[in-house]
Amino acid sequence: MDLFKVYKLWDIEPVRALDTTIWDKNGEVYTDLYGGHAVISIGHCHPHYVKMVSEQLTKLGFYSNAVQNGLQRELATRLGKVSGYDDYSLFLCNSGAEANENALKLASFHTGRGKVLAFSKSFHGRTSGAVGVTDNPAYRSPFNTNSNVTFIPLNDEAALERELSTKEYAAVIIEGIQGVAGIYEPTDAFFHTLRSLCDKYGTMLVVDEVQSGYGRSGLFYAHQHSGVRADLITSAKGMANGIPIGAVLISPDFKPVFGQLGTTFGGNHLACTAALAVLDVIENEHLVENAAKVGEYFKKAFEGDKALKEYRGRGLMVGLELKDEYVGLRDRLLFEKHYFTGAAGPKVIRVLPSLTISEETAAGFVEAWKELTA
Ligand SMILES: Cc1ncc(COP(=O)(O)O)c(C=O)c1O
Repeated sequence: MDLFKVYKLWDIEPVRALDTTIWDKNGEVYTDLYGGHAVISIGHCHPHYVKMVSEQLTKLGFYSNAVQNGLQRELATRLGKVSGYDDYSLFLCNSGAEANENALKLASFHTGRGKVLAFSKSFHGRTSGAVGVTDNPAYRSPFNTNSNVTFIPLNDEAALERELSTKEYAAVIIEGIQGVAGIYEPTDAFFHTLRSLCDKYGTMLVVDEVQSGYGRSGLFYAHQHSGVRADLITSAKGMANGIPIGAVLISPDFKPVFGQLGTTFGGNHLACTAALAVLDVIENEHLVENAAKVGEYFKKAFEGDKALKEYRGRGLMVGLELKDEYVGLRDRLLFEKHYFTGAAGPKVIRVLPSLTISEETAAGFVEAWKELTA
């Protein structure tokens, strides 16, 4: 059997990694400013993480959600404290798409409404509900109907009020910072309007922090820069540094109903241990603060850069939009200078490194960039 080829692959095969360094099978060394698509939050193979996960595997790797699980309870308590959503409750699943599916389902059950408002250029995952609120028809099959979804431009307050005032919407779903689109931020003012219109018209505010959350923006969740609180927050990617997990943080207004949500693997012992180890490292090594600090360094270092049309983002969620003549720079950074980065189309390079990245490593990247664009 061969693999079903749905990914465009670089001809590089990593076999070992430590913090932001990756070795491939030929012994070539790379620096990781991509974090496996914003997943590696505490660096590859962090010793505390490796120890906790391996020890847990020798005790109990998995049991189902039919029994008590102290690790899930501990994760809920810890995540509540670190995120500032202490009074919320936690549902655990396995991925970002699944977290969004569950959040939308909860909003729909709670309000008794069936429509969802989403934003142009959004990305929320590839399962049926999540792809329905994703603004890319190429990802949707005829089976994935989204006749109950409306898309409006980001930061368009008039369109928001026009739609929500119909009182037909169960939820608005918005990314803390749009990632796949190429790093676009809702303004703080828009978040405030969103909160008050959701309250006014009885719609649930779902913030997808799958990519922008877990400290990446310089606060635990990106929407917290605005000071606004969401009704439902979804997390995944950076939560367990590569072991699959997803989560929905649920406001106290929601009452749990047996059987409405469920999963076989979600919240298993191994994934919860990995997520707890990630929180240990985020807290002990002050990684949210480091994301803000190194983010500021990047912003300053790229000020007035000749190859850039625009610098976007916050903290370590950075979009570097290239002038037309520099398209292709991402491949050159990889193949000539050995830096992994992300992309959004040919013109935007996305920098999504581990939150452990040092200013020295960041400076190495900036130097390589300047050399290639000199
Ligand atoms: C904002 C956002 N939401 C949801 C997802 C989907 O997450 P997953 O691939 O874990 O299903 C992604 C993945 O890139 C994402 O960036």
